[in-house]
Amino acid sequence: MKEKIEILKKEIENFAVATADELEAMRIKYLSKKGEIAALFSDFKNVSNNDKRSVGQLLNELKDLAQQRYNILKESFSGNKKNDDDLDLTRTAEPISIGARHPISLVKNEIIDIFSRIGFVIAEGPEIEDDWNVFGALNFAPEHPARDMQDTFFIEKSPDVLLRTHTSSVQTRTMMTQQPPIRVLCPGRVYRNEAISYRAHCFFHQVEGLYIDKNVSFADLKQVLLYFAKEMFGEQTQIRLRPSYFPFTEPSAEMDISCNLCGGQGCPFCKYTGWVEILGCGMVDTNVLKNCEIDPEIYSGYAFGLGVERITNLKFQVKDLRMFSENDVRFLQQFQVVAN
Ligand code: PHE
Repeated sequence: MKEKIEILKKEIENFAVATADELEAMRIKYLSKKGEIAALFSDFKNVSNNDKRSVGQLLNELKDLAQQRYNILKESFSGNKKNDDDLDLTRTAEPISIGARHPISLVKNEIIDIFSRIGFVIAEGPEIEDDWNVFGALNFAPEHPARDMQDTFFIEKSPDVLLRTHTSSVQTRTMMTQQPPIRVLCPGRVYRNEAISYRAHCFFHQVEGLYIDKNVSFADLKQVLLYFAKEMFGEQTQIRLRPSYFPFTEPSAEMDISCNLCGGQGCPFCKYTGWVEILGCGMVDTNVLKNCEIDPEIYSGYAFGLGVERITNLKFQVKDLRMFSENDVRFLQQFQVVAN
C-alpha cells in the first residue's frame, strides 16, 4: 500500500495538463468517487492494525496533495491568477452596457416631436399647485360636482395646496402670463387618488395642448388631431369625435382612433368596437379666457389632453400599467432597441 501511495504521489506531483478536458480527466482519475485514491481508502480496511496509523497519514497527505494540485491547475485555466504580469494595460476597456429609455419617455418625446413640427412649444409648471390654476381658472365652480371628476390629493386646505390632477394647470399659467397667439404643449406628471390596479394608477403622465389666436375654430382642432393620429399610429388611422363634457371647454369632445391592433375589425383590446378612446378636447370656454384676462370677443382657442400611458399601451401593448413604475430592468430593457 505504501508503495502504491508513493507512486501516485510522484505521478500527481508531475502531472501536467494542457486543456480543460485533461484537467477533468485528472480529477476523475484521482479525486472522483471511483478514482485511485478512493480505491486506496476502501482497501484501507485490509491494512494491518500496526500499519494503520502511518498508512492512514500518508493516504490523507496524498489526498490533500491531489486536491491542491488540481486547484492550482484549475486556477491557471480560469485566469484567476492575480499576478501583475497578467495585467494588459493596452487592452480596450470592457464596453459599458447602454441603458434603455423608459417607454413613457419614448412616447412622450414622440408626441412632443409630432406637435413641435406644427409650431407647438413646450410649457412646464409645478406638480404641487393651488386651487386656482387647477380648477378655479378653468371654470370649475366652487362646490361644483365637476370637481369630483378628478379625485384630488390635497396637501393643505384653505388656502388649497394640492397635487395637480391634469396639466391644464400649465395652460392656466401660460394664459395668465402671455398674450395670444399662444401655442403650447404641456407634458408632465399628474396625480389622482385612484386605487392602483392594472388599468389605473395614482400618478400618470399627460400631454395637453392649447392654441389661442384670432379665428381659431373647431375645424382647426379636428385637423390637428387627425394629423397627430396619423403621425402617431400610421396613415391608415381614422378618428371620430364624440360629444363630451369638460368644465373648461365648450363644446367638448372625446376622440377615438380606429383600433390599431385589429385595424378596426374588433378585438378584445377595443372591446370589439373597433375604436379606442385616446384624448379629450374642445374649444376653450369663454369663461376660462375671461378668467385669464384674454378677450373672448377677439380670441378663441382649442385645447386637448391625452394620457401618455394610454398611447404607450396602444403602441407597445403593455397590459399592466403598474409595470411602468416598477423599475423592473427585464421590462425596461425591452425598449433598448426602440430607443437606439
Ligand atoms: N384636462 C382633461 C383631463 O385631464 C383633458 C382635457 C384637456 C380635455 C383639454 C379637454 C381639453 O381629463
